[in-house]
Amino acid sequence: MAICRICLRPTAGSRDYHSDCLVSLFGADSLPRMDIELRNLMGLAAEMAGKMSISGVQEKVSLRLSDDKSCFEIAPAHGRYILKPEPSRFAFLPQNEHLTMRLAELVGIEVPPFGLVELKDKAIAYVIKRFDRLEDGTKLQVEDFCQLGEKPMRDKYQGSGELCVRILRKYASEPLIEIRKLFKMILFSWWVSNGDQHLKNFSLMRTTEGRWQLAPAYDLLCTRLPIPSDHDLALPVCGKRSNLGRRLWLDFAAYARIPERAAVRLIQEQIAALEPSLRVIDASFLPEELKSQYRDIVRQNTESLR
Ligand SMILES: Nc1ncnc2c1ncn2[C@@H]1O[C@H](COP(=O)(O)OP(=O)(O)O)[C@@H](O)[C@H]1O
Ligand SMILES: [Mg+2]
Ligand SMILES: [Zn+2]
Repeated sequence: MAICRICLRPTAGSRDYHSDCLVSLFGADSLPRMDIELRNLMGLAAEMAGKMSISGVQEKVSLRLSDDKSCFEIAPAHGRYILKPEPSRFAFLPQNEHLTMRLAELVGIEVPPFGLVELKDKAIAYVIKRFDRLEDGTKLQVEDFCQLGEKPMRDKYQGSGELCVRILRKYASEPLIEIRKLFKMILFSWWVSNGDQHLKNFSLMRTTEGRWQLAPAYDLLCTRLPIPSDHDLALPVCGKRSNLGRRLWLDFAAYARIPERAAVRLIQEQIAALEPSLRVIDASFLPEELKSQYRDIVRQNTESLR
């Protein structure tokens, strides 16, 4: 039985993708041809870094589909997808990000379409559709929380959960709704031991109706797998980066002015996500050893929430 490289559910026979999943990610029911090789990608990524509107630490390239959607093309400008190959320093990051983003979806966090693809030399890469480009090419305005907090890029770690809440209070069109979404994202990110959720990994975007709302989640991964010593949150919550538990999350919810009953429900939803998450971890493309570590991490963090 094969597992779909997009949704992580079983496919019929030995197929790598469900047709429906291909349609939702690429707009066509067959996988576009990939002529790009990992060894060429790193050079391309470095070359593109200055030209692309997206930046970040990990190597990445901007992609689009050919007009007939039959193959991927490198697209320094007007790319509709972002491709993140496996960096040389850390193994299995594409599989880790893919799984973590699926787990986020499972708890009801909004995510863009994404999946895993094989490069020409069989290396696995993570691909995500851009949430800031519409089908007709329109570009939505996006501001990350580092910009909104009026901080230079190098200060992306100089923030806190509370700062993110204040940013939404100030800029979101419907702060009450957006703050609950943010609470869910920060809670989830801690739950999967993501130590790299800094200010540039949250954004606000302006919808076509002119409303400022939280952008879908991106760049979520369990950093504790590649860096076992990495337990601490990049942004503290109620002054703490580690050893967070139920009491602290309720305090943070109080700061965010989320009524206690609603906060208890949000925490309960994260606890209830444990069992289905364990099944998704099992189905993922991580090697067995890392699956087992991932399961231990979410079990342990779930205990701290009870
Ligand atoms: N799906 C997406 N749509 C639009 N912009 C995105 C998307 N994913 C990431 N970005 C932008 O690209 C930047 C880098 O991507 P990210 O996944 O955070 O890479 P890195 O691991 O290098 O930090 C992000 O800070 C964000 O501004
Ligand atoms: Mg990032
Ligand atoms: Zn699928």
